Amino acid sequence: MTQYMYYINYQDYEKDLCDLEMRALFNRPIETKAFFSNLRIDESLSPYFKSRLEILHEANNLEDLIQKISKKNYLVEGFKVNYLSIIKPDPINKDRKAITKAIGYAFEGLPSFDHPVITYGVTHNDSKWYFGILVYNTMHWKKHKSKPNSYSSSLSLNTAKAILNVANRGDTSKKIIDPCCGVGTVLLEGHFSGYDITGCEINYKVAMKARDNLKHYGYKGQVIHKDIKDLDEYYDAAIVDLPYGNSSESDEIDMMDIIHHAARISKRQVLVSSIDLTEKISAKGLVIVDRAVVYKNKSKRFMRYIWVCEGKEENY
Ligand SMILES: C[S@@+](CC[C@H](N)C(=O)[O-])C[C@H]1O[C@@H](n2cnc3c(N)ncnc32)[C@H](O)[C@@H]1O
Repeated sequence: MTQYMYYINYQDYEKDLCDLEMRALFNRPIETKAFFSNLRIDESLSPYFKSRLEILHEANNLEDLIQKISKKNYLVEGFKVNYLSIIKPDPINKDRKAITKAIGYAFEGLPSFDHPVITYGVTHNDSKWYFGILVYNTMHWKKHKSKPNSYSSSLSLNTAKAILNVANRGDTSKKIIDPCCGVGTVLLEGHFSGYDITGCEINYKVAMKARDNLKHYGYKGQVIHKDIKDLDEYYDAAIVDLPYGNSSESDEIDMMDIIHHAARISKRQVLVSSIDLTEKISAKGLVIVDRAVVYKNKSKRFMRYIWVCEGKEENY
């Protein structure tokens, strides 16, 4: 079975969210920045993926690895070999040019450094050497940073992208609703990754801004102008970035009402809030199956609670 080595990285203030996303995608806790899996996940799906190496050969030392590559007589025109540094500090990094050159000589075709048709990677981890096909997160989704319409309180791109994967565990065939979509930060990431996602927004002007943002990037998604309580289609998951309140009783009642309707129209909910609603969510009959907190930036001033819930169907 093919093995992949993923390399992830994150800012400290996003570690908890990254851990949550990895648990959702790989169905187990991921404890190191470089890890192996036989799941093949798109290298640009997670904001925290940096690269994915599809392992072709492994060996206990570099010489044996090069011998294994030579034996395969790879005839590839326009290839490139990169050294993947996954431990910091990496004592081998200083020799990377000699290592990639030696591997390049084991190939039959000619390399291309500027426009490679395929990039191979070599790395070492826990005293083993690995060689394979290397792909990097394209980061093309970062173009959404300059969307025409923005909220100062919009979710960060990383948070929006990660909670999408938490909601649907990387399965793009599932249907998602963002019932309080604001200007569509989550919708943009959803359409970029090929998710089947619909937006809903109570405020007409804001809904128009979300539509405008989608159109700007050529995405065809739908933004319904409605109150969540009037939605009746059923979805695999709902991602709810709750309206920002100030912990007043009336704000909390509105939030709990939105949560109630999110659970009514979806099987799994990812709830995001600036205030801690843990006890109220449980009291509502939802089962919190996972959770995290994330900050918007390193100042750690804007904290968001994230809960992953699965509704008790008999209550809804
Ligand atoms: C925190 S904002 C969402 C921001 C969005 N995630 C973004 O990054 O652009 C919450 C949104 O929920 C909308 N909203 C509030 N109550 C709603 C309801 N009952 N049904 C649908 N949308 C609602 C608000 O108008 C607001 O735009």
